[in-house]
Amino acid sequence: MIVLVVGATGSIGRLVVEEAIRQGFTVRALVRDPAKARGLPSEARVIVGDVTRPETLADAVDGVGAVVFTLGSDGAGKVGAESVDYGGVRNVLRALGKRMARIVLMTAIGVTNRTGAYNRATEAHDWKRRSERLVRVSGLPYTIVRPGWFDYNRSDQHRLMLLQGDARQSGDPSDGVVARRQIAEVLVHSLVSDRAARKTFELVAATGPAPDDFDALFAALDPDPPGALDGVHDRPNMPLDGEPQRVRDDLNAIIAPKSVHAS
Ligand SMILES: NC(=O)c1ccc[n+]([C@@H]2O[C@H](COP(=O)([O-])OP(=O)(O)OC[C@H]3O[C@@H](n4cnc5c(N)ncnc54)[C@H](OP(=O)(O)O)[C@@H]3O)[C@@H](O)[C@H]2O)c1
Repeated sequence: MIVLVVGATGSIGRLVVEEAIRQGFTVRALVRDPAKARGLPSEARVIVGDVTRPETLADAVDGVGAVVFTLGSDGAGKVGAESVDYGGVRNVLRALGKRMARIVLMTAIGVTNRTGAYNRATEAHDWKRRSERLVRVSGLPYTIVRPGWFDYNRSDQHRLMLLQGDARQSGDPSDGVVARRQIAEVLVHSLVSDRAARKTFELVAATGPAPDDFDALFAALDPDPPGALDGVHDRPNMPLDGEPQRVRDDLNAIIAPKSVHAS
């Protein structure tokens, strides 16, 4: 299976590329600056494209069986959050067209927190959450992973905990921590596990050894209801009728047959 990594030059994306190669996938790395592709494993095929420019994405999605999104627009404010974190996912899903592909989307712990200072300044949570919604209604098999704070774990914290409901919303590492390399492992394991399909979860680590049975971790989770906009236990604090019309239009355009109409 060809796996497209979107965000392949990032701190998580690079590790996803390595892990996917290690697990035997054929990896395609989407990069917007070829110079930044230096350092990616030579087994990865580099494709130049920019998720904010849909016309650059056709080659990237051609023939893929799966897409892992590890995009980030940190520092680019509301405009970046909408155009990259959200618009990037929308544009790649559109480029896929009717192609059946497994989707693994990384967002963030606390993504449903709308009132904290970070989201009020950047709207990054809201736009990442809207990207989750596009994936859920796309009709494609998906897993949505919301990691805690990258690499804030102590050296003895590798026991993975998969949580649901996004209840940890302090906006600091007390919400949860996890090693970047373990995030990449979970993202890649999600690609092929039936137990991970239609699941949304926060990913943090506690004191203890790393797991070796990822299927068991995924199996313990509740799936999202078919066609649902939000994760199964998320707070319903983003009503559709309060959403911008352009977001509702995107949902309707991407929505799979038989899903709920988003007007
Ligand atoms: N730090 C944490 O503790 C934490 C916890 C949970 C979630 N998160 C979130 O996780 C996300 C990813 O984190 P990270 O550390 O991997 O970020 P990162 O190192 O900044 O990587 C972001 C990736 O997105 C790519 N990208 C940005 N704009 C693009 C565009 N227009 N077209 C194509 N690719 C584009 C970047 O490409 P370039 O290399 O070309 O810039 C890079 O590959 C962030 O949004 C962050 O908010 C972070």
